[in-house]
Amino acid sequence: MTLRTLAPDDKIGITISLNGRPVQVEVDTATTLLDLLRNHLALTGTKKGCDHGQCGACTVLIDGERMNSCLKLAVMMDGREITTIEGLAEGDELHPMQRAFIERDAFQCGYCTPGQICSAVALVEEGHAHSREQIRELMSGNICRCGAYPNIVDAIEDVMAERRGQFREAAE
Ligand code: FES
Ligand code: FES
Repeated sequence: MTLRTLAPDDKIGITISLNGRPVQVEVDTATTLLDLLRNHLALTGTKKGCDHGQCGACTVLIDGERMNSCLKLAVMMDGREITTIEGLAEGDELHPMQRAFIERDAFQCGYCTPGQICSAVALVEEGHAHSREQIRELMSGNICRCGAYPNIVDAIEDVMAERRGQFREAAE
């Protein structure tokens, strides 16, 4: 067998589960997941801020974990399950975190919001945040230039409280 080095513009076929649907695409080896989503698949809800892993605007869920999509090569995503902001709602029913952000007015310009929401959804699932301080700390990878932080923490606290209520009801 002859091995050859891939050139950056060589195309590779991958299959991903994107917001619950199988998607097959051909990508070159230099394309990031962020650019695949925005430029090839027209899912522009995921935002490009720094493009260097510093701002969190590009956060998506990969197999349920929050990740900066600007730091992931698309070719590495073969077989992975990816959820973007467009995939959080169930039909017309917003995800509880989306509802909470609206109810708490947790944005101004909204540019960071998709990344904040995806990150917050994963944070609640992780279950490591038990105070406002811990929420702030664990959301520190998501920068908001408008400074909507207090309202973002309010929204996340609301969802965490809602979840605790549901668990209590289920246990009774
Ligand atoms: S655009 Fe990915 S972290 Fe800033
Ligand atoms: S709402 Fe404007 S950057 Fe966060």
